[in-house]
Amino acid sequence: MNPLELAQIRYSAKKFDSSKKIPQEIIDDLKEILRLAPSSINIQPWKFTFVQNPEIKEKLAAVSMHNVEKVNQAALVVVFSVADDLDAFQDVVNSGVLSDRHRDWYNSLRKNMPEADLKSWMAKQVYIALGVGLNASIALGLDATPMEGIETDKYAAILNMTTYKPLFAMAVGYAAADDHNRLEVTPKSRRPLDDVIESI
Ligand SMILES: Cc1cc2nc3c(=O)[nH]c(=O)nc-3n(C[C@H](O)[C@H](O)[C@H](O)COP(=O)(O)O)c2cc1C
Repeated sequence: MNPLELAQIRYSAKKFDSSKKIPQEIIDDLKEILRLAPSSINIQPWKFTFVQNPEIKEKLAAVSMHNVEKVNQAALVVVFSVADDLDAFQDVVNSGVLSDRHRDWYNSLRKNMPEADLKSWMAKQVYIALGVGLNASIALGLDATPMEGIETDKYAAILNMTTYKPLFAMAVGYAAADDHNRLEVTPKSRRPLDDVIESI
């Protein structure tokens, strides 16, 4: 399928078929695709936590607001977190993964920008990975749901996170046959092309 066709069929699943498991090689591909996501100055301020363990998934589900069932049913939940302890993250910056120019750029941002603004900029980078993850999922034959509706502080506690902070999650698996959000039941609703695209 070409990218347009994939965009046309991708949708946010609201009900997953919990009996279907995802082949490990597909999960491995998704991991690698997220690792390759782009970010400003290649800063990569993220951690992607792949949760398949049923007990942990159940604990996460209990603090997932209106997403309880999706988290319980989906074979996989990917939690997207952002670097929160900037002293700890400095080790990544200094590790050689960034070019010297980008490292110097980041160090100057860290010195001159209020910490809240720097963290907000980092969180935006993690959202880019969400777009990559959603497109990757449909291309890999998976259904997915992005979920901001989670209690991020409780996710952090369940996952024992200290230096990273969860922002949102993505439920991944195979949609149930009776998912009401399937496109044949609930067609895509988007603003008209001329309204959102300007061509000059
Ligand atoms: C950042 C983000 C957060 C979202 N959070 C939730 C959520 O918590 N629960 C949910 O069921 N859908 C959530 N959605 C799905 C959106 O409602 C959905 O993408 C939008 O209505 C467009 O529909 P489509 O994805 O089916 O094309 C979220 C989407 C995005 C991009």
